Parts: sequence; C-alpha cells; structure tokens
Amino acid sequence: MWFSLETIVSRAKRRGFAYPGSDIYGWLANARDLGPYGTEIKRNIENSRRTYFVQERGDIIWLDSQILMNPKVREASGHVAGFSDPLVDCKKCKSRFRADKLIEESLLKSKDKELPKNRAGEKTPAEDLFAFLWAKKVKCPVCWASEWTEPKKFNLMFKTEQGVIEGEWMDIYLRPETAQGIFVNFKNILDTMRVRIPFGIAQVGKAFRNEITPGNFMFRVREFYQMEIEYFVENDEKVWLKAFKEWMQTSKKRWIDEIWISEKKLKFREHDKEELAFYSKGTFDVEYEFPWGRGELQGIAYRTDYDLSQHIKFSGKDLQYSDPLTGKRYVPHVIEPSRGLTRAILTAMIDAYDEEKYTDGNGVEQTRVVARFHKNIAPIKFAVIPLVKKDEKMVQMAHDIYKKLSKDHMCEFDDSGNIGKSYRRQDEIGTPYCITVDHQSLEDGTVTIRERDSMKQKRIKSEDITF
Ligand code: GLY
Repeated sequence: MWFSLETIVSRAKRRGFAYPGSDIYGWLANARDLGPYGTEIKRNIENSRRTYFVQERGDIIWLDSQILMNPKVREASGHVAGFSDPLVDCKKCKSRFRADKLIEESLLKSKDKELPKNRAGEKTPAEDLFAFLWAKKVKCPVCWASEWTEPKKFNLMFKTEQGVIEGEWMDIYLRPETAQGIFVNFKNILDTMRVRIPFGIAQVGKAFRNEITPGNFMFRVREFYQMEIEYFVENDEKVWLKAFKEWMQTSKKRWIDEIWISEKKLKFREHDKEELAFYSKGTFDVEYEFPWGRGELQGIAYRTDYDLSQHIKFSGKDLQYSDPLTGKRYVPHVIEPSRGLTRAILTAMIDAYDEEKYTDGNGVEQTRVVARFHKNIAPIKFAVIPLVKKDEKMVQMAHDIYKKLSKDHMCEFDDSGNIGKSYRRQDEIGTPYCITVDHQSLEDGTVTIRERDSMKQKRIKSEDITF
C-alpha cells in the first residue's frame, strides 16, 4: 500500500520517532531531532552493523574521528575547491536553483535527451550549463520565465571559527563526510593495528552540508549521520573490480538483513560521468522507492588512490602500504560503500508503516496502524501489560516480568488499564510482542503473548518468554 509522506511525518512526531528541530521556537528549517523511538532504531542499526562488519567479518575495524579537523584536510581532500553546486537565479522572480538539477528535471519532462556537452568526462562546466539553460529555454519552476543569471559556485561546507584570541582565529569546517577522518588515520592504523590489505575502516558519525534544496522530511537534511567504510585494496584493476562487485552484493544484502527493507523497493543505478563526485572513477547508488520517487540510500564508489595520494602530497607523510609477503610498497586503492544512517532510519520507518483492516472480537471492521519493523530494528521488543490496573498482585507480577526482560531488551511497562488501547499503541510503534498478565497468570504463572503481525495470542509460562 502507498502512504503519503505527510502521514509518515505526523506519525513520527505523534509517536516519538522524530520531532521538528527547535520545535518550541517554531523550528529551524529542515532540522529533525530523533525522539526516543527514532534513537532506538538508530542504535539497533548501528549495533547490527557493528556485529556484522566489525565483530564477525574480521577484516574491518572501527574508528571514531573528530568532526573538526585541520583545515588543510579539506584542501587536500578537494572539498574546498570541488564540493560546490552551480547555482542560478531566475531573473524575473529571483528564485534560486541548482543549474544541473534544473536541467535534469527539464530533460526528464521533455523527450530531448541531448545533454550539455562535457569535457573529458568531467562534470559539466558552469558556462555549458548556462548556455544550455538559455538555448533550451528551460523554464523557472516558480514563475515559468526562462531568463537566468550566470551560474555561481556555492560551497556546501559549513564554515566556523576555532580559537579564543582575536587575530588567532582560524577558519575551520564542519566535516561534510566522515571519510576523511579515516584517510588521515590510515598511518596510525597501519602503525598500531595488525591489519593486512585488503581491510576496511568503518565509522559512524555526523556530517554537515549546507544543502541548497533540503527536504523530504529526513531525506535531505543539513546535519545527518553517515555510516562509512573505506575498504583498502591492492592497486590492480582486477582486484578492485572484484572488490567493487563484492561490495555491491554485500551492500544490497545488508539493506535487507540489517535494515530489513523490502527487496522489491531497492534498485541499483550506475552514475553517469556527469554525476560522479570529484574523487570517484565509478559509483553505484542503492536507491529506494520513496513516496516522492526514487532516492539514494547508499553510494558505492571506487575512489582510486585519490584521497591517500592527496594526503601524501599535502601532509608530506608516507602513507604507502608495505606488503609483508611480497615486500611491494604501494598506495592502496579504495572502495567506499558509504550509506546514510539518517536515511536508513527514515527508510526503516517508511518501509515498516502499514494500515490494515481487521475484524475485531465483536465482528466490527477496524483499521489498525502497524509498524512492521523486523524485531531486531523495532525500538521496543516487549510491552508488558497488567490486564487490571488496580489489581496490585497483577501489577506486581507484570512488573517482575518487565524487570527480568528489560535486563536484555528494551521493554515498556504499559499499565493504561485498557488492553485494546495498549495493543493499538504498541502496534503503531512496532513492538513485536505484547505480554499480558491476567487473572489466570496469578493462579498458574502463565501469561499471554501476542504477536504484532498476526495478532495471534498464545498462553505460555512466564519463564518461557524468549526473543
Ligand atoms: N564519503 C562519501 C559521501 O560523503 O558521500
């Protein structure tokens, strides 16, 4: 079934998944705070990722680098010079747009597939975009005029200042990707850890981009979580091609096994040359069918030895790898299967949302909202419910079960006293199991366990509850 984004956004706020940022001050445009349940989903995704990549695989290690880095890092990485979008203004209504996006959308609408010329596989130069806008009379989506100012480059990095003494302040950037924290620690990792190529370094953390057109709830936000891996391989075409293909398979599988989203809504798409980031020689996107259309969840990029070579040049440090078996020294090449964690949380929420018709115990047709999270992603694993709120013994028994289960799982003690209401609330937040303590429980120590999706109930001994 298809649900609008408005439905997802309002449910997210009403049920404590995500709130508008700075809400009581009327919102900071586009900012979103994760509520208690959104935070739990985030933690569950991170845990699943750590278990699989860092704990089980054995060829990937973990790192947690700083958001603020020496500004030279951003010069070396190319973000100062290259991380910008070409912006144009409509001369009539003064609205501002990304020139490449305007062209992309106008090409999608028209049958005319003739792209603006590009030079030697590089991104289309701003003057060609400008010429295209005028030649094809691309219309302003706001006022329908087709008169454009010349494109201006707009860097997407947030800049701030470090230092407390006037005159000694230094311009510094909030990181636009977590990846550089990995590259600048490559030597530390080689010197301190027992790693052999191929190996990867993973990191999860915040990144910041001053997006020109943020939107679609938590899809394009200016402050977001990334889950990045830089996977270092030999400098050999056969080797990196093989690694690239393996990462495509792994990435697809992890979206299904880690976030548990519908396989039929996932798509792989190769970037054409126009789209490639300045550091990449080839990129595959994993995309998802969102309510507003397809959107990127993950990019799997072949970054060559671009980043390490740049850091060698700018830092003057030797970042080569010495193969202990062959003695060969080289700058490793990199496959980067990076994904957005904020987008993963959003996708999990959208993918799980469902509305279902069912017939209640009185034969009346009802609709329930149910979040069909996989039990590993669900924010709450068990709700423990005493049937009668005022029955002290029942409440005590339910409380004891809650205490025991919550040693290993996130649980909720739900004593609203209205079992139907409790089930509806737990269905909406996606709790896979509801445990109810009733009169019989006091006599024989059994409880009912209700499964979220089937709504079926079983009576079991309280000590037999398993996850
Ligand atoms: N490191 C890749 C990205 O931030 O998109």
